[in-house]
Amino acid sequence: MNMRIFDRLDCSPNILLGCALAVLLAGSATADEATELSSAGAEVYATYCLGCHGAKGDGRGPASDMLIVKPRDFTKGVFKFRSTPTGELPTDQDLYRIITNGAYGTSMPAWPLLTERERYAVIEYLKGFYPGWQTEGPGEPIFIPQPPEFVGSQASIHRGRELYELLDCAKCHGDRGRGDGESANDLDPDIWGNKQRPFNFTSGPLRGGSRVEDIYRTFMTGVGGTAMPSYADIFEEPDGEYILENDAWNLVSYVRSLRNGGRTAPAEDQ
Ligand code: HEC
Ligand code: HEC
Repeated sequence: MNMRIFDRLDCSPNILLGCALAVLLAGSATADEATELSSAGAEVYATYCLGCHGAKGDGRGPASDMLIVKPRDFTKGVFKFRSTPTGELPTDQDLYRIITNGAYGTSMPAWPLLTERERYAVIEYLKGFYPGWQTEGPGEPIFIPQPPEFVGSQASIHRGRELYELLDCAKCHGDRGRGDGESANDLDPDIWGNKQRPFNFTSGPLRGGSRVEDIYRTFMTGVGGTAMPSYADIFEEPDGEYILENDAWNLVSYVRSLRNGGRTAPAEDQ
């Protein structure tokens, strides 16, 4: 049995079709699987992605000149939104998530019109632009604990506010989370050479996901290629003085509350 394909699929009831496909594919030859998906992916890429990401995958498609946030250059092997540690390649699920949801506030569209198979096919294809997919492969996703019940409580938001100041988040993201901190305009360009903008938490969904687990993951893995660092070292070994056990979750509470003017965390898990 080819188990790899199962790893890529979330067999929840709403995508039973995809799982049926996985069962079908599981019967086919393992070695051919990637090649076969990749050629189907070439077609999807040429139709829907090439205009922005370019024929060579370097982010210089014909439309890219007009865009403020530039399309990802896939040849560098650096991705912003990952469940894997800083410096490692994302998992198929990470790529699947961003292709499905798009990147809010940029021209990267959501692609619900593509079938699940087409999305996995184009993922296989875009891996062809960077040799590290063959040599290193994706990293291991970090462990995300079950969110504690106090996330979103007033006490947790209050503690999160202290951390937001202590860790200098405000310098980039601004006192009220509008992306207008004092350093916001002085950041060096990101690794692709584009101007960086600290995220404005008060509008729109977060690109790395807005659920509490998503925000926790973003702190722990950082946003690849940008000034947004990983805070894993700080939160995983709390010093007991400045940083306490579970403080990452308190910061999650505060960031979510910023979406609501800094008062309470929004109830919805969008
Ligand atoms: C209209 C332009 C446009 C089209 C069409 C487009 N993209 Fe993008 N894409 C972007 C932009 C802009 C970004 C960068 C977003 C950012 O940096 O936040 C991006 C980023 C990405 C990322 C990187 C996410 C990360 O974590 O770094 C992936 C993967 C991606 N696109 C895949 C695709 C695929 C697959 C298609 C075709 C189905 C596609 N894109 C079509 C503009 C586009
Ligand atoms: C040196 C500047 C800088 C500091 C300090 C910083 N950030 Fe960021 N942050 C950024 C930038 C720039 C981005 C946007 C990256 C991109 O997508 O281009 C970002 C993105 C994010 C995102 C992801 C938004 C999304 O779309 O998913 C979160 C969450 C976040 N920051 C939270 C924080 C928190 C909390 C702190 C403090 C612990 C912090 N940041 C400190 C610069 C910074």
